[in-house]
Amino acid sequence: MQSDGFWTVLVVDDEAQVRASLTRCLEEDYRVLTAASAREALEILNREEVDLVLCDQRMPDMTGVEFFREARVSHPEVIRVLITGYTDPDDIIRSINEAAIYQFVSKPWQPDHLLLLIKRALESRELARRHRYLSRELKFSDDVLRRQNDHMVKLLQDTYEFDKLVFASDKMVEVCNLARQAAATDLPVLIQGETGTGKELMARAVHFFSARKAFPFLAQNCGALPDELLHSELFGHKRGAFTGAISDRLGLFPAADGGTVFLDEISEVSPSFQVSLLRFLQEGEVKPLGSDQTRHCNVRIIAASNRPLKELVEQKKFRQDLYYRLRGFELNIPPLRERVEDIPVLAEHAAKKYAKSINRNIAGISNEVLQRLKLYPFPGNVRELENEMRRMVAVAEDGEILSVKHMSPELAKLLPAKPDNGRAAFLLEKGTLKEKVEALEMHLVSQSLLKHKWNYSRAARELGISRVGLANKIKRYKLDKSGAQ
Ligand SMILES: Nc1ncnc2c1ncn2[C@@H]1O[C@H](COP(=O)(O)OP(=O)(O)OP(=O)(O)O)[C@@H](O)[C@H]1O
Ligand SMILES: [Mg+2]
Repeated sequence: MQSDGFWTVLVVDDEAQVRASLTRCLEEDYRVLTAASAREALEILNREEVDLVLCDQRMPDMTGVEFFREARVSHPEVIRVLITGYTDPDDIIRSINEAAIYQFVSKPWQPDHLLLLIKRALESRELARRHRYLSRELKFSDDVLRRQNDHMVKLLQDTYEFDKLVFASDKMVEVCNLARQAAATDLPVLIQGETGTGKELMARAVHFFSARKAFPFLAQNCGALPDELLHSELFGHKRGAFTGAISDRLGLFPAADGGTVFLDEISEVSPSFQVSLLRFLQEGEVKPLGSDQTRHCNVRIIAASNRPLKELVEQKKFRQDLYYRLRGFELNIPPLRERVEDIPVLAEHAAKKYAKSINRNIAGISNEVLQRLKLYPFPGNVRELENEMRRMVAVAEDGEILSVKHMSPELAKLLPAKPDNGRAAFLLEKGTLKEKVEALEMHLVSQSLLKHKWNYSRAARELGISRVGLANKIKRYKLDKSGAQ
């Protein structure tokens, strides 16, 4: 939801006329965005905060159900409503299951019906969200239920195992060593880096490596909220503290007692709220809105910013005293283009993750793809790399090696500066059988080494050859860790 209370609806239809009439119907009550294709819609979803998508079934690039199947994985929170001429109930049930579609609207659609349906859908999602929040409040305020929370933390840690930090570059080794030191202390941590570099993932890692790991890790984005709401989210409020405060609310700081609070986009906090945060950091006490009682909370703060705070301090846009307080430890995550050694492992990690999520087998990633990925500057950093890999996995056939033909055009057209000595020749049409077989062998050996992080024994075992045999092949094909492999 936008901070002004407006919900955002994305209308996806290839016909301009339909988009215009749907926009007319909705724009009085909602912020309406439009897309003329599924591809464009996915781009908007990556860029904008969208609450509900209204999509036509028949589109040239993919069907509405296919689009929703993809959006379900990439943006699970968004409500999916399909507009269709379908009448076959079996078809409808199958699609509902496949793409978790909230509702169908049959053509020709009626404005009143459509508006009511959208209103209900958004209301029930909001209720579910509040329910989750209230359950969280209950859990943290009730000792018996708190034990159940240990179970949740365990589940969370298991999820975290899956979402692990992956890296190979010396720069990241350095940052992670510092993060480990930070984890051993109770000092605040400031994580800085461009968008998509993994700041939130790093914050979670610090929490789960710390003695606080059995307690909650709660995150708050400070960017989108006005002061009063942010205050109520973090410090809590008493019933009646302001219009709409119908019950007491436990803030995130008391809810995370014993654990960690992650404050994302800290640079966006207003000067007056900076004072409240500073006070909390100095005294560790919270006073809910509308209450005159303070309560002590033992939480560690991890803050993140994609704008360098030091510069904002110099421009007098961020308080210097708060900056110094926050940077007990300062972790600066370099942009992906400055640590290209991480690209192959991250690409593989992401490809595996998405392949698993859609039940597809991927045989590996071709050298040509890795070379192109290494040339691309990735302004959206790891998130953008993940999106590219998600796309590649989605368009590849089961059991295929991800190759240039699966890449998005912008990346596929990048040409490696030096020729590849025919390394990926088996992917090309030309060459003798011997050359092709050798290229394939080199490719498979390098993939196996990549997969096992250059552990000779494991790669040799997987390939069914001896360690000496593997060493010979590495020499013969001049494979090395820093190369395109
Ligand atoms: N080193 C890494 N290993 C594995 N996955 C990573 C790594 N770094 C980032 N990611 C993945 O990239 C995506 C973006 O990461 P994250 O949300 O932590 O970035 P961020 O810096 O907080 O971005 P933003 O500034 O836009 O909020 C996530 O899906 C995350 O899992
Ligand atoms: Mg983030």
